[in-house]
Amino acid sequence: MNDLKHSKPPIRELLVLNFTNHDFQGERELKQFNWLCIQADSFDCALQYLNSNQIKIAIAIISNSPTQKILHAINQLNDHQNGLVWIAITEETHPLDNKLTACLSRYFVDYHHQPVDWKRLNHTLGHAYGMAVLKKSLHSNLQSKNHGNGLLGNSQLIKQLKTNLSKVADSDESVLISGETGTGKGLCAHLIHSQSRRETGPFITINCGALPQSLIHSELFGHEKGAFTGADKQYIGHIERANKGTLFLDEIGDLSLESQVNLLQFLEEHIIERLGGSRNIPIDCRIIFASHVNLEAAVEEGRFREDLYYRINILHLHAPSLREHKEDIPLLASEYLELFNPESRKYTLSPKALDTMLAYEWPGNVRELKNRIHRAIIMANSEQLNAADLGIKITHIQPDVNDVVDLAQHRVEIDTELLLDAIKRNNHNISAAARELKISRTTFYRLIKKCKIKL
Ligand SMILES: Nc1ncnc2c1ncn2[C@@H]1O[C@H](COP(=O)(O)OP(=O)(O)OP(=O)(O)O)[C@@H](O)[C@H]1O
Ligand SMILES: [Mg+2]
Repeated sequence: MNDLKHSKPPIRELLVLNFTNHDFQGERELKQFNWLCIQADSFDCALQYLNSNQIKIAIAIISNSPTQKILHAINQLNDHQNGLVWIAITEETHPLDNKLTACLSRYFVDYHHQPVDWKRLNHTLGHAYGMAVLKKSLHSNLQSKNHGNGLLGNSQLIKQLKTNLSKVADSDESVLISGETGTGKGLCAHLIHSQSRRETGPFITINCGALPQSLIHSELFGHEKGAFTGADKQYIGHIERANKGTLFLDEIGDLSLESQVNLLQFLEEHIIERLGGSRNIPIDCRIIFASHVNLEAAVEEGRFREDLYYRINILHLHAPSLREHKEDIPLLASEYLELFNPESRKYTLSPKALDTMLAYEWPGNVRELKNRIHRAIIMANSEQLNAADLGIKITHIQPDVNDVVDLAQHRVEIDTELLLDAIKRNNHNISAAARELKISRTTFYRLIKKCKIKL
């Protein structure tokens, strides 16, 4: 008797990252246990998939002696996706070499040898999945412990944002969220989904700025086997995966004009056709857009289609910059101090540190505040954090009344410092530097140009 038939679990997504030169053959084998293998053939591709937020476990297929590059990639993906649980598949090897043993014990909950016993692997994956769900709920409990409905702040601007967000969540219309980097646009998108009737459906994120132009169409709409050279299997695109849920198109201002035409057509009809396919597939999803660039200005400059702008700008939420609600800084600071506090220690801010925070312009907004507190807790010598621990340099704490503070110039100076630091820390690897600053490569290059940095 086939006991699988009696207790078939729901389809669960599984990231497969192949670091060897051999093809992974397990897609069909694992499908019978209801695992949907999402195969990533590059680090960037894996990041894109993880952005969809559905994936909780990952398989790494590694050779006998993992390189620094592999370890670095796994580390980075872990940073990106809290609670991701890894299982390794190694080439048959007895005994294991030292490097491999160290790698397996550090990053993986279990490992399997080639040739794989798929039934045994299914059991491992089931356990790993359960652990990942536990970890995730622990993480979100920690996050939500002090974080109410997720958006922190008692200022008028944040209260208004929360009210508008609840209203928007009740409707099924498209929403455009604007705001500078780090102001919580992604967070708002998640909240809209989790407060909407689509809460139990998928939440799929596409970072339009991070997708390579050549792949964007098939990433969005999917493709059939043989649609183009290299399309050796069918691929379900992000839009199709968002069926019955929410599709979050982040950095929509970075989408090329060509892709904007295709997107507009989808928004009108809610039907897609996979590349190389001939079937119309209706998609039922709610769409949320976010942009840190001013889309009206982009329309005027001819970089964004006017008809698309009006189509997506039906409901509009604006996430204010932290400069506009500085009264929330003490509350945000104390929440993050508690969130990052290692157990049994109690970090506080010195009065001077708080003054400095209130005087600072926060170009990276709440994300920057969160990161600075996190870093200060790790690096500080005492439990009272001072301004130096936060690494904030104030050039105009009390501007002379006769001084004209040129905010635009001041921001260029701050951006220049942040960019140069990130470039240096990442040995001139632009993709890594952009990832560290949590901005797309396109945005990174735009800022480099704005700040006149020579690479
Ligand atoms: N008002 C807020 N309350 C609580 N957390 C916030 C708030 N605003 C931002 N954050 C936190 O700051 C970080 C950055 O937020 P998020 O990624 O949503 O910003 P973003 O506007 O999407 O930035 P980007 O344009 O760079 O993508 C996240 O950890 C988020 O939880
Ligand atoms: Mg974002």
